[in-house]
Amino acid sequence: MKQTENTGETLSANAFGEDFLWGVATAAYQIEGAVREGGRGDCIWDVFAKKKGKIKNGDQAAVACDFYNRYEDDLNQVKSLGFKQFRFSISWSRILPEGAGAVNQEGIDFYNRLINKCIELEIEPWITLYHWDLPQALELLGGWKNRKIIDWFAAYTTICAEAFGDRVRSWIIMNEPMATAGLGYTTGEHAPGKKGNWNFLPVVHHLALCQSVGGRIVRNLVPNAYIGIALSCSYVFPDSEKPADLGAARRADALMNRLFIEPALGLGYPVDGFGFLSNINRYMRAGDYELLKFDFDFIGLQNYFSVVVRHSFLAPVIWLKNVPAALRNVPTTAMGWEINADGMYRILKQFQQYNGIRDIVISENGAAFQDHLTDGEIADSKRTAFFQDYLSAVLKAKHEGVNVKGYFAWTLMDNFEWAEGYSARFGLIFVDFKSQERIVKDSGKWFASFLKNTLTQNLPTNLRENVSLKKTYKQPEK
Ligand code: FCB
Repeated sequence: MKQTENTGETLSANAFGEDFLWGVATAAYQIEGAVREGGRGDCIWDVFAKKKGKIKNGDQAAVACDFYNRYEDDLNQVKSLGFKQFRFSISWSRILPEGAGAVNQEGIDFYNRLINKCIELEIEPWITLYHWDLPQALELLGGWKNRKIIDWFAAYTTICAEAFGDRVRSWIIMNEPMATAGLGYTTGEHAPGKKGNWNFLPVVHHLALCQSVGGRIVRNLVPNAYIGIALSCSYVFPDSEKPADLGAARRADALMNRLFIEPALGLGYPVDGFGFLSNINRYMRAGDYELLKFDFDFIGLQNYFSVVVRHSFLAPVIWLKNVPAALRNVPTTAMGWEINADGMYRILKQFQQYNGIRDIVISENGAAFQDHLTDGEIADSKRTAFFQDYLSAVLKAKHEGVNVKGYFAWTLMDNFEWAEGYSARFGLIFVDFKSQERIVKDSGKWFASFLKNTLTQNLPTNLRENVSLKKTYKQPEK
């Protein structure tokens, strides 16, 4: 067992407390495949991935991990790794192939089977409503730039809450909205591949409105729901103490860490950190300030790396640049992301400063490394060390009073890592994408032993009682 660097205490799962939630996270587009099965419509990633040069090696997610067909085996693996929580996302275009309008019963049936299987295994299902895969039909109408998305998202959320709310208590309304606004509509590195600084503000505003609108719908339709959002966050270090670099760090912090939490808390957008954000006013309508607020039960934080930034005249509007980890002689993952568990500790302490945050859940944390299959084993000691160091940092923050209630490892198995395709492997389980064979990595085995004697038993009995095949398997009409 590893000694934690910070407390000298042995790192054990029980040190996090009996009610701590241990889970593993996934996302629909990254694992499901079966894009043509079960009546699913196209999403923006189906279209984007087909464009030349968008995804490394031209990889496609039409099959991915084939989770749509293999979910039972994969959930058995979740169980054998010792996790009691399973986070997955719903593919909007499986539920509503055209984004709005007719509901696809086969899509509802799939998630019912998945949820019921989780419950059968005593694993609590956690739904993410939106993890980046907008129906293409809605993108053709402007996607996140179009304010009508509030109605589309509300209708979709209502369908999901009504269909699954009897057996799902934990809801993440949205995953990393900053990635959608920044990578999807500003730099164009992610689907739908739109570029331009002036897309950024309306997209941010509509995402921020949808996160609270979605929260309210789930609150009204799902009794005792545990509702949150999942936000990417990275502690920002200035490259120097020079005022210009300090200003750059403030702007980066406003964008990376404050942009979506502050409007929900009723603080408005962080214009004091980044003046450009005041332009969002042109998309604000009467009543929006109130509409942006929502009292989330938890805030999901997703932390992978910290960043160092400096002022730059070469980047108009934002006037800063990231100082890449590779130039700073620090350890990195295969993504080139700095490994710095202290950044996890610091970001938790930063979020602790807000009044109004109830619980914090680490909704994703993990690392990609080059894995080598040798004699049927993956000896990924770097990944295990990464988890141990980051968990130690979470524990240190928890001991200092940060209200961290749970931790989700990213991710169950290697999968379609967005623009990186299959080249970046984050899984606790290795996937051979040709044969679909799964091999538990050493890091997965480490988690299994780490979680072996956890005291938690988290599945609320009412979720179990509501699994009734008659009630949930509505067959489509012939
Ligand atoms: C997060 C995403 C997740 C995965 C990890 C590596 O930003 O939410 O889908 O791509 O990064």
